[in-house]
Amino acid sequence: MMMYRPNALWTDGDEHARLRGAITDSLSRVDPNALRGYVEHSADTLIDRFGPEGRADLLGEYGAILPLLVFNQLFGCPPETGDKLVEGMSGIFDSNADSEKANAVLAEGVAELVALKRERPGADVTSWLMAHPARLTDEEMMHQLVVLMGAGTEPQQNLICNGLRLLLSDDRFGGDLAGGGLPVEDALDEVLWTDPPMANYAIHYPLHDLELDGTLLREGEPVLVSLAAANTDPALAGDRRGGNRAHLAWSAGAHTCPAKSPARLIAAVAVEKLLDRLPDTELAVGVGRLEWRQGPFHRALAALPVRFPPITVPVATDKPSGASTWNTNPAPSSSTPPAQTSTEREPAYGNGGRQRWWNSLARWWRGQ
Ligand code: HEM
Repeated sequence: MMMYRPNALWTDGDEHARLRGAITDSLSRVDPNALRGYVEHSADTLIDRFGPEGRADLLGEYGAILPLLVFNQLFGCPPETGDKLVEGMSGIFDSNADSEKANAVLAEGVAELVALKRERPGADVTSWLMAHPARLTDEEMMHQLVVLMGAGTEPQQNLICNGLRLLLSDDRFGGDLAGGGLPVEDALDEVLWTDPPMANYAIHYPLHDLELDGTLLREGEPVLVSLAAANTDPALAGDRRGGNRAHLAWSAGAHTCPAKSPARLIAAVAVEKLLDRLPDTELAVGVGRLEWRQGPFHRALAALPVRFPPITVPVATDKPSGASTWNTNPAPSSSTPPAQTSTEREPAYGNGGRQRWWNSLARWWRGQ
């Protein structure tokens, strides 16, 4: 998380412009309507799994998995490789003794994905990055994928779950979504102020000693910026947050998050879908008893246990074999039709594909 990697996050000037340009151009090929359809579809699949139970851990069974499904879809990543990426990525965010091992697993996963797409490019963000005029080398590709995945999964899950936590615990957001209560977008704005998914980051290494507001910052010593502390500075008047997006949750300046719109969209659709399908969801423990996960960078719940009246879900019928799994389908792009709507079941797969799909989900859960 703090080491130099030759990617957009750690470069400046022309090199940064080149790497960031490849990312923003490739992300701009993702069609928001198709993305919305895909998020809805993924959300439905997950809700169908735990809906009949009447209870769930919305972190492990929903918020943590949904961004991975979306990432694998957008980046054309097969499940076997996805497992490595997920194991490696969650390991480096936790920043403990196993982080180096996790980093090695992550490197293996991204190398596999790059090799796969060089051989068989598709309509996905990985292939678009490769085809970009910036002409990224394999090593550069691997490092862009690490930053894209790091940013696109863990913070994304935390925006979804921190948003759900607020909506389920704060009376101002109570009531049915169609009627009273503040809308989901307001809850997400508030979370970006009070519980930003990247609580501390925007790491800088000063090129020379300098004094900042009476504090000496030494050359080469990392400076970790607390975006959360800046947002919640008591000097800021508390009530100015409604409709105010002047927080630092996305950082600021040249390195500000280039994926704010898709990230917001994914979170909003995930939250809306959950509350729409399970409108009477309530926390299974008092909000004060929810635990936050340790770690220097994120604002992340350890679990989000909820209960709700069980729903009935039609039994899935196996479709004829053909496509192996859904996440090898093309990314939702402006050149591909929107994903099917939320009431559809999973796309076609054979029994083997289905088994692999659920095995893969189970491994993701175990990795939490
Ligand atoms: C809720 C979700 C997200 C949050 C809170 C978030 C937050 C951030 C923050 C704080 C930074 C700046 C780090 C710094 O200044 O050092 C950043 C950078 C970045 N984010 Fe996001 N992000 C999110 C989702 C995403 C997604 C979905 C993607 C891509 C699919 C993404 C891609 C990136 C990239 C590539 C950078 C580096 C940009 C550069 O250095 O030029 N982010 N993000």
